[in-house]
Amino acid sequence: MKKQTIIVTGAGSGIGKGIAKYFLDRGDNVVINSFTETALQNTFDEFGAGDNLAMFAGDVSNKKTGEELVKIALENFGSVDVLINNAGIFESKPFLEVEESYLDKFLSTNLKGTYFTTQSVIPQMLKQQDGVVINIGTPLVNHGLGGWPASAPIASKGAIHALTIQLAAEFGKQNIRVNTVAPGVIRTPMHGDKADLSAGLHLVNRVGEIDDIAEMVYTVAKSNFITGSIINVDGGKGAGHNLN
Ligand SMILES: NC(=O)c1ccc[n+]([C@@H]2O[C@H](COP(=O)([O-])OP(=O)(O)OC[C@H]3O[C@@H](n4cnc5c(N)ncnc54)[C@H](OP(=O)(O)O)[C@@H]3O)[C@@H](O)[C@H]2O)c1
Repeated sequence: MKKQTIIVTGAGSGIGKGIAKYFLDRGDNVVINSFTETALQNTFDEFGAGDNLAMFAGDVSNKKTGEELVKIALENFGSVDVLINNAGIFESKPFLEVEESYLDKFLSTNLKGTYFTTQSVIPQMLKQQDGVVINIGTPLVNHGLGGWPASAPIASKGAIHALTIQLAAEFGKQNIRVNTVAPGVIRTPMHGDKADLSAGLHLVNRVGEIDDIAEMVYTVAKSNFITGSIINVDGGKGAGHNLN
């Protein structure tokens, strides 16, 4: 398989870190990003700091971060083949307690982060007439949970799902494919040691593991004919519950 250059945001921990490792292990070049420099540096060192790896710490909601990631990818590897917009935050707060600054936090990191990082890579993908953008969404966009109120992050993720389809339409003729992978509850630091409490939200009655997502992201990245798709990798969470 052709060696490609992959940018992964939010790769200092959890799903993003697992995705970055998955591509690295299969021979691709990877540029990793996350917000906190020390965490990212630890990941960089843990991955072996090899020639096929580069890093840049920065806030994805600032377009300069995306531009820097593209610059680093081109300087080190000569192309940007795949962008994985994984950096994201998710918390629960009842709707009536949400203030503007709280809502802005999710719109900024999740939506603007995905929006502007994509805006940074598309010009290079247009030059190449080839590229793939994979966003990380959630099946909760189409499946509400009354007992777990999270209107702010879910609204931001819903916008990412909509953006996915719109960009797939705008850039399809230039051979740029845009998709969203929507995970169920995945065992990552985001859930602390509480992930398994959510097992019953999935038809398979268990939570997912990071490689369940990495495997699908890799498959979508290497496909030439998947675009405009929202792909649930969620143990059936989007379809129903397994609660007693
Ligand atoms: N885990 C799940 O069950 C689940 C389910 C559905 C969707 N997702 C989505 O999957 C993605 C990854 O989640 P996760 O569980 O792996 O979370 P995680 O372990 O908390 O990791 C999130 C990563 O995003 C980075 N990040 C956060 N804000 C950022 C910003 N403004 N700029 C750059 N990087 C930023 C973090 O960097 P720092 O640590 O440096 O802040 C960290 O590396 C998120 O988009 C999340 O919404 C997760």
